[in-house]
Amino acid sequence: MFEYYLLLTLLIIVLFIVISSLKIGISPMPTSKSARKIIVSTLQDSQNSTIIDLGSGFGTLAIFLAVNFPHKKVIGYELSLFAFLISQILKFTLGLKNLHFYKKDFLHQDLKNCDLVCYLFPIGMQKLEDKLFDEEINTTIISNTFAFRNIKAKEIIKDNSILKTPIYIYKT
Ligand SMILES: C[S@@+](CC[C@H](N)C(=O)[O-])C[C@H]1O[C@@H](n2cnc3c(N)ncnc32)[C@H](O)[C@@H]1O
Repeated sequence: MFEYYLLLTLLIIVLFIVISSLKIGISPMPTSKSARKIIVSTLQDSQNSTIIDLGSGFGTLAIFLAVNFPHKKVIGYELSLFAFLISQILKFTLGLKNLHFYKKDFLHQDLKNCDLVCYLFPIGMQKLEDKLFDEEINTTIISNTFAFRNIKAKEIIKDNSILKTPIYIYKT
């Protein structure tokens, strides 16, 4: 009987994640390990004290950043409720004091003076690009897989996976 309820709960959670992914436009799929390493090495020389993961999903990328940059504040904004809850559980389990997750739309947050990382989708990239122009945000932006339409990448690094996923690095 316990197994039945457990399975039912898991199915409901998966269903909620699928529905919110359809609404938002992307699932909480995590950035690969090799891409995470590229992101960390790219941010190594940055002087900014805050890194924001725009759409933090289950929190794995933000956790990796918080562990690798213990003296920086890492923020993750996420719209999907269950992905956000899972990231909160992971944060408290790991006891990472420099990591903060918020169930908020990053398009309505102050992104100035922070390094930005994202793994979005074409419409999400377009909205982010509009915000960067409107608010004149000048910073480093690292985007997994998807490029901006009008901003030229300073560098494009391919990860080590079979897919050779591009990581776009912008200095706006
Ligand atoms: C592919 S996942 C990436 C997760 C994580 N950043 C990583 O790289 O491992 C993209 C996430 O962005 C979230 N998202 C998309 N648009 C958003 C917005 N405007 N505000 C907050 N979260 C958003 C989605 O819900 C999804 O969980």
